[in-house]
Order: sequence, then C-alpha cells, then structure tokens
Amino acid sequence: MRILLIGSGAREHALALGLAADPAVTELHVAPGNVGIGEIATIYPEITAVDNPDTMLELAQKINADLVVIGPEIPLVAGVADILRSHGFAVFGPNKDAARIEGSKAFAKDVMAAAGVKTAHAEQVVPGATAEEIDAALDNFGPNFVVKDDGLAGGKGVVVTTDRKTARAHMEAVLHAGNPVLLESFLDGPEVSLFCLVDGETVVPLLPAQDHKRVGDNDEGPNTGGMGAYCPLPWLPEDGVQRIVDEVCVPVAKEMVARGCSYSGLLYAGLAWGADGPAVVEFNCRFGDPETQAVLALLQTPLATLLHAVATGTLDKQPPLEWADGFAVTVVLAAHNYPGTPRLGDAITGAESTQVRHAGTARAATGELVSAGGRVLNVVGTGATLFDARNSAYSVLSQIALPGGHFRSDIALPAVEGRISV
Ligand code: GLY
Repeated sequence: MRILLIGSGAREHALALGLAADPAVTELHVAPGNVGIGEIATIYPEITAVDNPDTMLELAQKINADLVVIGPEIPLVAGVADILRSHGFAVFGPNKDAARIEGSKAFAKDVMAAAGVKTAHAEQVVPGATAEEIDAALDNFGPNFVVKDDGLAGGKGVVVTTDRKTARAHMEAVLHAGNPVLLESFLDGPEVSLFCLVDGETVVPLLPAQDHKRVGDNDEGPNTGGMGAYCPLPWLPEDGVQRIVDEVCVPVAKEMVARGCSYSGLLYAGLAWGADGPAVVEFNCRFGDPETQAVLALLQTPLATLLHAVATGTLDKQPPLEWADGFAVTVVLAAHNYPGTPRLGDAITGAESTQVRHAGTARAATGELVSAGGRVLNVVGTGATLFDARNSAYSVLSQIALPGGHFRSDIALPAVEGRISV
C-alpha cells in the first residue's frame, strides 16, 4: 500500500511510525513531514500549503496513493478530503461538511442538540456586537466563564476564567479578529479524550486518554495545544468508554448520516466526566495532539490496514482492535516563551531516542537539530503501570537539553497518586 500522510507535528510522527510498521505498507510519503518523520518516510518539506486541495491532489496523483491520511483539521475544513475522494482516492478524514463538527462550534452544538447529547449550554456572539450585547451575554454565564474562539484555534482559543474582565477581554480580541465567540457554561469533572474511528454509523473507540492543556504544573497558566497526555485512564468507570460511545459518539454519527454529511475518519470527543457521566466539551475532526502519541504507542492492530478500512467503508468487517497491556505517557518539551511567541533556533541535544516524536524541530545549515516551533518534541514512555510509563518518559526527557525549554513535571501524576475520582 502506498500512503500519503498529510501533516508535520508529533501526532503525524506517531501516525507515520504506526503506518510504517504495518507490513501492508510499501511506500510512505509525508507532506510536509518533519525531521523525525524524514528518518522513516519520504518527506516534502517544500509543500507547506497542505490546505490547498489542488496541491494535495497533485501530490496524491504523483505518488499514486492507495490511501491518503489527513492529520490536521485545517486541510479537512478546507475540503482536501472532498477533492481527493472525488478523484477516486481512499481518504482517511471527513469531508468538509462533516469537518464542521470541529470547524464550527455552533454546528457541533446543533448536531448535539438534535442527537440528544449532553453538553454545555452555549451562546454565540458575532463580530459587530455592541458593548451592551457583550455584557448581556456575559450576564448569562459565570462564575466560571468559558470563552471560545468559534473557529479553528488548535486548542488555544479557549479561555476559562473566573475573572469577568479577562473573559470580556478575550471576547473582544476574538471578535476584533473577525471570528464569532462561543460562551459556554462550565462543565465540571475530569476531562476525557476519546478517539473513535467512525465510518458512517459504525463507531470503534480507541483507548481513552487525558490531555493536560495548561502550560504549568497543577494546571496553572494559560491553555496550550496540550503539554502531555496518558492512556488508558485508571479512574474511568469500567463502562466509561461504552457509555461515551452509546451516549455521545453513536448518536452523533447517526445524526451526521441523517443530515447527509456522513462522517468518515476520526471523531475526537473531548468530554468532562461529571456527576451524571460524560458531557461533551468539544469535538475535533482528527486525531488529538498529544494524546495520539500515547494512544498509538499501545495499539497493536496494523494501523494502515485499519485506516484503509475506514476510508473504504469496511470498518464493520474489521476484527476487534488489539492493544498492548499497560499504559503510555507522553510529555511535551516546549520552546522558551510557549504558548506566547516561542523562541526558535535553539540547539536541541540528546534527542536521538526512538521514544522521541518530533514536532517543531529543524536542521540548521550546520546539521544541528534546532527548535522551530512552540511544541518542539514529545517523549513517549510505556510501562506495565502508569508509574512505570511516566518514569520511562521522564527519564528520556531528562537526557534532552533545549535552552529555555520547559515541560510539565506532573503529566499523569494525579492519576498515579489516585487523586482523580468520579
Ligand atoms: N489535545 C488537544 C487537541 O488535539 O486539540
């Protein structure tokens, strides 16, 4: 099988490793790819406009791809899957209409309301709203304000605060940038990321994971794209995954089919597990980053064959997924000043381990590895216990040096210490 994978982050590095390990794969091409992916696949660093449907079509044709796997949301929302499918390619990733589940939070709310899925109460405020309208909307929320950029923000457009002034300032910034704002009621309870393979009405869950979105230990500081993750979740009730599938993912998949925008690809349900069970915080139309790096570290089912089955409408014919026993933890090493404007070009040393997944890295003219993005790399550890998996990740991370680099030291720690209960 000749595969084209689209994307350049640590998520795509994890996907590339999974795809390359499938004996059915004969060629793996990744656009644009990154330094780590370049060690196991043909990369196309010059192709950065991955949201340009014509560019992606031309590359898929040149490669004569048997399967195109689209990693990030931006090409999906831009309709790259649509044009590839219309030219006969098998594509893993939803069409533009279905990708609105992430691209428009208002669309996602509408689908959930129709499907009877539990989620936060929400109100949209559109650009051009007067100061009075902004205040009137804020009056309906609090004491915890959840203010979301109702567009694509890569997980970074959300501010959760008890300070009304901070909430108002974020609303104004998003509206000023020309995007609508979604105000939401706060959902209490530990967060769960459940990734499901969805092929029409067939839904197959992967292992449940938890992301750590704040930049600092003890969930302090601003939100990021994700600073680390672990899976599975020892604190989740035994029927937790099945409840999310039955109460959230299957009803949404059926509603999408009923609306004529059948979903094909990865549906990421971001949930809070409250007193009454799961409620949806958000949906994404692709694998999550950094959870994927942990989840795929335990998947034993050949990945390319599995994604090809979704892309060709045969997921219901696949055998049950196989998983390694134990746990996986991934920890993100971020650049100086991330999640603000990250400093680039710092030398990275000690990152040769096979447990490293590259994200914002590059080779300088001298050949040395340097930082080239906010989230620079991830380290993945696995082990029989969550404690062991954490130790494995942190011991490799301790060998890596990046001036000004920072990481959270408490990824998965509350779960290890039994501090999460539902
Ligand atoms: N883990 C957050 C995201 O992928 O959006």
